Formats: sequence, C-alpha cells, structure tokens
Amino acid sequence: MTYPVNMDVKPIVSAHFDEATNTISYIVRDPSSTHCAIIDSVMDIDYAAGRITYDHADALIEEIETQGLTLDWIIETHVHADHLSAAPYIQDKLGGKIGVGEKIMVVQETFGKIFNEGTEFQRDGSQFDALFKDGDTYMVGNMQGFAMYTPGHTPACMVHVMGDAAFAGDTLFMPDGGSARADFPGGDAGALYDSIQKVLSLPDEMRLFMCHDYGPNGRAIEWETTVAEQKAHNIHVGGGKTREQFIKFRTERDAQLDMPKLIIPSLQVNMRAGEIPTDKDGKQMLKVPVNGL
Ligand SMILES: [Fe+2]
Repeated sequence: MTYPVNMDVKPIVSAHFDEATNTISYIVRDPSSTHCAIIDSVMDIDYAAGRITYDHADALIEEIETQGLTLDWIIETHVHADHLSAAPYIQDKLGGKIGVGEKIMVVQETFGKIFNEGTEFQRDGSQFDALFKDGDTYMVGNMQGFAMYTPGHTPACMVHVMGDAAFAGDTLFMPDGGSARADFPGGDAGALYDSIQKVLSLPDEMRLFMCHDYGPNGRAIEWETTVAEQKAHNIHVGGGKTREQFIKFRTERDAQLDMPKLIIPSLQVNMRAGEIPTDKDGKQMLKVPVNGL
C-alpha cells in the first residue's frame, strides 16, 4: 500500500487533554480554510453514579464555534476501552460525519456476544457515517486525510494522517511510554508490531500525536513527537527491537495489567458510535457481564 503522504500541508493541531482518562482529543484544522476534524472525543462519565456529562466535549465545541470553524469529520481511531466517545453529542451540535475503521464489524461481533446484545444491535458498522479501509482518503476543507490500517491493539485500529500530522491512536505512546496493550479480545502483539513499523515508515519529520499519555516517571503530560524520535527512542520498539522481542515483552507485560476502569461502559457505548444503549422501554442503560471479559 502506497499512502498519499503530503508533508507540505501543515494542519493546525489543537490538543485537549482529559485528566480523568488520560486521553488527548484533537481539533485538526486545514491551514488553507476554516474546516476542521475532531479526533477521539471524550464524553465524561461518573461510572459509580451512572452519570454522564459533557464538559470535555463542550470545550471542543466552544473552540470550534469561537473560531468559526466548520466540522467535517468526527473520527474515532478505534473502539476505545478506557473512555466513552462524545461523537453523537458533538455531531448534534456541529454536524460532521462520524468515521471509524471498517473492521469495527469484527469488534461489534466480539462484544455483541460478550454483552449478549440482541438482534437489534447491528454488527455491520451502520451506526457510523463512514467506514474506512486501508488507504481510504477524505477531505477536511482542502486538506486530504487518509487512514492507515493498524491492527494489534484492537482489530479495527486506524492511524489517521493529514498533511504532516499523524494521529497514532493506540499504536504508540510517547517514546518513554512505549506502546499500547494487545491483550483485549481481537488484539495481537505481532500485528501491533507490524502496524507500528508501518507508522514508523512514514517520513522522519512526520509529527505524531498520541491518544494517551500517563506521564511516566513523574514527567509532565506530553502528546507530540515525531517518527524520527520514536524510531530512535521508543522503549518498546525503538533502536531496532525485533518482532520476537516485542511479542515476548508485550505478552508478559499485558498479563500483569488490570482492566481499564471504564472498559465495560466504554465498549458498549463506543461500539455504537458513542450512542448510549437503551433497554426495551427506551431507557438509557448499561450492562455488566459477570466474568465475561
Ligand atoms: Fe485504546
């Protein structure tokens, strides 16, 4: 696959860090127009109380409205397991199309079973406005973006590239954070290694924007790096680590990790493009499968 990389276009990227989930949401603006895209928005949840709020999404909306921008796309790099997407809430206020990788169907099939969803839960990705295949392109104003298929963390992960900016989703973390786990259902450490190599084959000067940062060893939160920095310094894949070394390390590490705190509500909402499921009476309701994950 040859991707339509264009380093001459330099989008304006605004990052919004969500402290509750360590997620970074982005507003990506075409430098030659007033059009923009959102990558990986967050809906706030107090899971203990079952309460949903929209402070994080409102901040994104306010920035877009204040700058008079047109929102073309609301992109999910994957079905997140650690935060809930605010895509439908944002779409309601600002428009734009909600897009995700076409392999969402695999994720819907897997978690449709785990959450014992009925036949009314479609497993064909139809909850989303667009399903991206590897290499698919789309426009944000005059700026072309494209999707790179990068499975491993989940089977539906995509990295999105617009001009000289790539949004890594959960393939890579900052160089001192390494890589994302690969042990969720459908995850695969070898596939993740291969996907990371694909990302690292982008030009050295490509700006790379992370979806998460946990500030390892007490450093301040960061989200921006480059392909060159990752190749040289990433603690899991940098400096020429082999596929075998990576698989061994990743598998051992993943076996010790706890489940993300919000995995149960996140999956149910995110596999529905951010819609909260409803029960037979139309009430918004979440399930907890006992010993199901
Ligand atoms: Fe993730």
